[in-house]
Amino acid sequence: MKINGKAWRSIWLGEDGQSVEIIDQTLLPHEFAVRTLNSAADAAEAISVMRVRGAPLIGATAAYGVALAMRDDASDEALNRAVAHLLATRPTAVNLQWALARMEQALQVLQPAQRCEAAYRLAALICDEDVEINATIGTHGLGVIENIFASKTERQGPLHILTHCNAGWLATVDWGTALAPIYRAHDAGIPVHVWVDETRPRNQGASLTAWELAAHGVPHDVIVDNAGGHLMQHGLVDLCITGTDRTAANGDVCNKIGTYLKALAAADNGVPFYVALPGPTIDWDIEDGVREIPIEERGGEEVTCVGGMSESGAVCDVRITPPGVTARNFAFDVTPARLVTGLVTERGVCPASREGLLSLYPEKRN
Ligand code: MRU
Repeated sequence: MKINGKAWRSIWLGEDGQSVEIIDQTLLPHEFAVRTLNSAADAAEAISVMRVRGAPLIGATAAYGVALAMRDDASDEALNRAVAHLLATRPTAVNLQWALARMEQALQVLQPAQRCEAAYRLAALICDEDVEINATIGTHGLGVIENIFASKTERQGPLHILTHCNAGWLATVDWGTALAPIYRAHDAGIPVHVWVDETRPRNQGASLTAWELAAHGVPHDVIVDNAGGHLMQHGLVDLCITGTDRTAANGDVCNKIGTYLKALAAADNGVPFYVALPGPTIDWDIEDGVREIPIEERGGEEVTCVGGMSESGAVCDVRITPPGVTARNFAFDVTPARLVTGLVTERGVCPASREGLLSLYPEKRN
């Protein structure tokens, strides 16, 4: 995507052809800073502390993390160590497992001397494929938006789309999942307006989605997480679109905490609720998302403190709770398939069900 006319991806190879560069998302929207990853440990740290985040970007970063490890030591032990270290960073987004399994399978059959070059090549391919996938999700999602816009004959004004967390280009290598259709619709001249859930505790909506949408010129307003139901009751949301970190084979979707409550409110108010996802986000081994998808629990300090910029321009965290309070921080929740109107993938749009997914991915039929 472009920032001030310059095209960016969220991850790329450094000028030396071996180090890896990322945009440090913990500093946005206050500072745009590029960081260099020089080792698998750097990649693992960037994923753990969420300098990079979002399911597809976590997978892409882990792939480059393996390549960095192979540059230093291409032995079997080093490969196993790097994969285990990267795998332990975040548990929910299945793209991490998917990318690491792909790297491991491709590299373990090679002689150590061949592994470094092959690892960089495969990591680059995973990134390029992600860009292609998300661009295609944008095309299919544009069709959904066009249809809903065409059916809104009774009311003037823009099409109001609600989204949760950040499923934009910062969460992927480029384009985004949930935001790709919105960018395409905006570029196609459909008047869209986005309600951006702030997305506590880390505020990926307020800090990242709002920043992305502003850079692309898409009209939007940030709302507190609890406002969506009220807006839906008053006819102010035409469509919800979110991303997903892991999609079960039955169509259940796991996304940032609070997504489920938006889907419940959407169902109660007859608002279509779509989820956009790349194929690698589907976990074909999980049949029941609510029972089986592992939910990350992060540190309580993300709940007791809020980060931001003070009047004087200092970026800092402030505590919002009494001292010594305990907090629990569940990072994701699962929205059952029955609350999802449709899944938007790179292969088209389908019902959120086992049959729906299999109609697009027939090779997964046993
Ligand atoms: O904790 P995060 O910021 O990694 O969570 C990201 C999300 O919940 C996104 O919606 C999800 O990864 C889908 S993004 C393409």
